[in-house]
Amino acid sequence: MRKILLLATLGLTATAFAQKFEGLALTPPMGWNSWNTFAANIDEQLIKGTADTMIANGMRDAGYVYIVVDDCWEAMERDANGNIVADPKKFPSGMKALGDYLHSKGFKFGIHNCAGTLTCGGYPGGRGHEFQDALKYAVWGVDFLKYDWCSHGTADARETYKTMRDAIHAAGRPMVFSLCEWGQNKPWEWAQDVGHLWRTTGDIMAGYDSRQRWESGWKLILDLQYSLVTNEGPNGIGQYAGPGHWNDPDMLEVGNKGLTLPESRAHFSLWCIIAAPLIAGNDVRSMSQEVHDILTNKDVIAIDQDSLGKQGWRFRAETGREIWVRELSGGAWAVCVLNTGATAADLTTDWSAMSILKGEYTVRDVWAKKDLGTTRTARTDHVESHDVVLFRLTPVK
Ligand code: GLA
Repeated sequence: MRKILLLATLGLTATAFAQKFEGLALTPPMGWNSWNTFAANIDEQLIKGTADTMIANGMRDAGYVYIVVDDCWEAMERDANGNIVADPKKFPSGMKALGDYLHSKGFKFGIHNCAGTLTCGGYPGGRGHEFQDALKYAVWGVDFLKYDWCSHGTADARETYKTMRDAIHAAGRPMVFSLCEWGQNKPWEWAQDVGHLWRTTGDIMAGYDSRQRWESGWKLILDLQYSLVTNEGPNGIGQYAGPGHWNDPDMLEVGNKGLTLPESRAHFSLWCIIAAPLIAGNDVRSMSQEVHDILTNKDVIAIDQDSLGKQGWRFRAETGREIWVRELSGGAWAVCVLNTGATAADLTTDWSAMSILKGEYTVRDVWAKKDLGTTRTARTDHVESHDVVLFRLTPVK
């Protein structure tokens, strides 16, 4: 009996110590990641140059602070002691120096690796090396770890990601832990105390496939969110998100080849409605002014970063139009009307038909930066194909 009690006590102690670092992602993390544009073509010049640009163009100050080096930064082999090492050609100064550089410029340092034996790019993965790797990342000054799911064999996702969570905790350096297991094992049901964000779906594409269909890009990922949990509306997948633990529909394709400007604007708006992490994935060194203005729009970002931390949902889907809503702090709402049709359309928004609204609200067109009266009157907006109108509704006192 005493033995059982002792074990129970030890068990409780172990649980108390095995935990994620809290308070790191009270709003969805924001930053930049190398994968969507550069894939394996990365090196320290690219990362540093991106950081420098993000200071000069205001992105850092708009909130994009995590700079995440995705797959293919590693040497093909671990060293003789089993340590993970950076490719000396791509990162001749080493990862500690890169982390120091980013920190000195006011950024946080993110890195990618994998819960399996190999990363998706074929580099050494973390399986069996979790505690050793977490210590190394801590020494390098890593603040954000994206952990992938390639080559996982028969591993159990929950146990594997918990092991890495415990390894990060044991290493003693707070890191945002980003689970990238593509939603295969319903991480929304178990990852709240494992990581700070979890991918819900497979990889996003820039809105183009061999047939150049926008539906194969971010819109497909958005639609897929609805096949994950049976209930639509506020009881869908969004119920699992909140401060410190977010659904991750994948990184942004804003500004990438294959999206029109309206599509980039719509993609960004809807990622803000669903409280997605805002991880830019374009070449910020060569983007147009228009793309820059989408990524740094403070009022749109404020919707994503709203302190209430409630994920929005699709309120209505009908031919040619979808209406998405998100409850914000202070009784406010964000309402996003998306033209899904192939041509421009005049879309009427009848506030009185929206059951979620209680009383009267002032209406602001967030992208146009215009106040538009109140919800007493329905309105009609001319919306380009695949574009949105994004409203912020504030209760009239
Ligand atoms: C997986 C992830 C991507 C990216 C690549 C890198 O596909 O889902 O986001 O990290 O691996 O190989």
